[in-house]
Amino acid sequence: MTERIRPSGGLSRGREPKMFDLTGRTAVVTGALGHLGPVWIKALLSAGARVAGLDLQDAPNSTAFELLVAEFGEDHLCLYRADVLNRASLEKARSSCSDDLDVPTILVNNAGIDQPPGAATESHQLHEIPVDMFSEVLNVNVAGAFLVSQVFGEEMVRCGNGSIINIGSLYASVSPDARIYNHIDVDPPFLKPPAYGASKAGLVNLTKYLATHWGPYGVRVNALSPGGVLGDQDEQFKDKFVARVPLGRMAKEPDLIGPLLFLASDASSYVTGTELRIDGGFTAW
Ligand SMILES: NC(=O)c1ccc[n+]([C@@H]2O[C@H](COP(=O)([O-])OP(=O)(O)OC[C@H]3O[C@@H](n4cnc5c(N)ncnc54)[C@H](O)[C@@H]3O)[C@@H](O)[C@H]2O)c1
Repeated sequence: MTERIRPSGGLSRGREPKMFDLTGRTAVVTGALGHLGPVWIKALLSAGARVAGLDLQDAPNSTAFELLVAEFGEDHLCLYRADVLNRASLEKARSSCSDDLDVPTILVNNAGIDQPPGAATESHQLHEIPVDMFSEVLNVNVAGAFLVSQVFGEEMVRCGNGSIINIGSLYASVSPDARIYNHIDVDPPFLKPPAYGASKAGLVNLTKYLATHWGPYGVRVNALSPGGVLGDQDEQFKDKFVARVPLGRMAKEPDLIGPLLFLASDASSYVTGTELRIDGGFTAW
């Protein structure tokens, strides 16, 4: 008979789930109306947190977000329009969030820009990619996360309590394999933007910087780097992508929940400055 392994650290049966409990906490999630925003938000709400979703003034409404408001109520989930590159709009959102929900002690820097294969409206040869396109990705994905962290992190430092989670990507660690995209019928051939991985690698390093500076104030900062999340990608893309994943599939939305709650909650109370990859082993080869 195999012996049951008990958790170390003196935990008694029944106490473990509390470690992931976020009751009484308030979280901010940027990019709330995109694909993954509502996934993170639902995870946080389900763990008991109140959540402020932030997104651009002109970002289209999201059915997934609306369903969460209906399920959890406006006293638990609010939407504020703010641009991660506009300090005044972020300060306004911070003030509204504190009034409507509470002072946030969890921040998920999720807003980001990319060019997924299906959105290949304009392609360029590598040597002709306009530098403005490159800069825009770096600005939103790195400078934006920095500005949001400044605005919301200031209060966390003052309170002596906080968890900031920067959403990275598998492409923070490895370059995209162009062969995964070479069936896309555009001329010049589709290129995953070179600025995307550069921005995510920069974000992982920024994570370490903030973690070392704010650690003494009780604010933890970590990166969470998903691999490809199953969506409406074409079949050829999915087949080629999955062939490179040791776990043999793309990420599904529920795969993202545990890692997020781990980093957001006291379950990771001694974890800071690290990158947790949810990539099915893609970057392990
Ligand atoms: N979907 C994936 O497979 C995947 C994989 C790895 C990493 N990621 C990362 O996860 C995050 C979310 O991805 P997604 O698939 O939901 O993207 P998405 O494009 O569906 O959503 C991004 C959201 O960010 C918002 N946004 C963009 N610029 C903004 C700005 N200046 N200010 C405020 N909001 C802004 C957009 O309006 C949008 O709602 C991104 O950082 C992305 O790089 C996604």
